Amino acid sequence: MLKSSSAGCYVALVRVLQRTIILTTTAFFAAAAFGNTLEDRLLREFHEAYPKEAPEGGSERAFELRAAPATVGQFDGRRLDVWAYEGRVPGPVLRVRLGESVRVTLTNDLPQPTTIHWHGVRVPNAMDGVPGVTQPAIPPGGSFVYRFTPKDAGTFWFHPHHRGSEQVERGLYGVLVVEDREPLPWSRDVVWILDDWLLTPEGQIDPRFNTRHDLAHDGRWGNVMTVNGSSDETLEVRAGERIRLRLVNTANGRVFAPDFSELDAKVIAVDGMYAARPLPAAGWELAPGNRLDLDVTIQPGERGRTIRIVDRFTRRPFPLATVRVLDETVPTPGFASPANPRVPRWADGLRASVAAEYRLNARAGGEHGIEWMINERAWPGHDQSPVGPFDRLEPGRWQRVRFVNESFRLHPMHVHGQFFKVIARNGAPVDEPFFRDTVLLKRQETVDVGLVPLDWGTWMLHCHIQEHAEAGMMTLIEVAPANPTER
Ligand code: C2O
Ligand code: CU
Repeated sequence: MLKSSSAGCYVALVRVLQRTIILTTTAFFAAAAFGNTLEDRLLREFHEAYPKEAPEGGSERAFELRAAPATVGQFDGRRLDVWAYEGRVPGPVLRVRLGESVRVTLTNDLPQPTTIHWHGVRVPNAMDGVPGVTQPAIPPGGSFVYRFTPKDAGTFWFHPHHRGSEQVERGLYGVLVVEDREPLPWSRDVVWILDDWLLTPEGQIDPRFNTRHDLAHDGRWGNVMTVNGSSDETLEVRAGERIRLRLVNTANGRVFAPDFSELDAKVIAVDGMYAARPLPAAGWELAPGNRLDLDVTIQPGERGRTIRIVDRFTRRPFPLATVRVLDETVPTPGFASPANPRVPRWADGLRASVAAEYRLNARAGGEHGIEWMINERAWPGHDQSPVGPFDRLEPGRWQRVRFVNESFRLHPMHVHGQFFKVIARNGAPVDEPFFRDTVLLKRQETVDVGLVPLDWGTWMLHCHIQEHAEAGMMTLIEVAPANPTER
């Protein structure tokens, strides 16, 4: 009796299990057909938060950039030997409008090969400026034409991707501003390029690059901080003016934390892309590579005042720049701060599995004595082919990528050709209402991001501390479908 009843139970249980299996299988296929996996739902949330294709049919803007040694007068009139685009540090601000295409002829008159990388711009892969990957390095005396049509309006910058720790430090960088199709009536549009310089007692750029000290720390931190190449940059404004202030950190290693609490300021864009809504300007850090766009209104009560913008990243605050408010008032242009309400929330992103993981650490060895690694591999030196295999990400699908900083140093991790959104820090959900192209990892921190790769190709993923990258902290990701017939 007992036996047969337990046998009956067993049969019933098997039936239930069978039905469950059938139901689950059916549900699985239905889900695939109707696209209802977690990733499908996350992808739907992304829905054209930024476009896949560049606008067509606009006119072309042509620029010439000559990279060459130059001497500039800076830092209290002392002469400074630099490497510069068009003889200036910072290099020129290239301004185009969304819809226009860009053509830049780079002439290399440096004593080294070089390239230009368009940081944050979703360019065709062949225009990405990575030597040995997307193009051969341009030899001294050579030239190269970069052509692309920006897909996004915003604040971007450009710099060499060959011996960056030396070439960027010597002064090779500039800004690319892609204005909105219909620019808002700002009183003024201002670029502030934040950088630091390590100068010798004679006031020249210290020629020792990639030192053991730089590598064992957060790269090369300078002893002179500059905004637009000046150690006392002053912005003269009138009360009532509404200013779009574009900040770019071009330093090799230094993180800036500018304090805007004296101003009526809101953050409207991060790494070039508009945020979901205007955000309070307090507590932001700009790691190397990062940009922040601010919407600043000079209040009538600030007439005649002198406001100092101070950096607070390190324990010793230092003055970055000055805003001098003239004794004049103008009407404030009225318009809603620009925003991108389509930035997804991706609150469920943490439930998805990790598609690719990048562990960051160092070991003794290599050309510089210390190698910085991603997943136990250091990128080989200049002009050497990287060793695969590399991770592949599926274009047009939502994926979760994880960075794990196993070291005690800072690593601003940058991905070329893609934007991503931070969804967790150390496993705890984070809602940053904006995309990034560079995220700073603090000591032993884990950061999870979600992304939908739209731009196909072989893209770099690396630390933007130039010395860490130089000592190996670079890898590639392949954005291509698993099934090549989809091409
Ligand atoms: Cu601004 Cu690969 O870098
Ligand atoms: Cu690093």
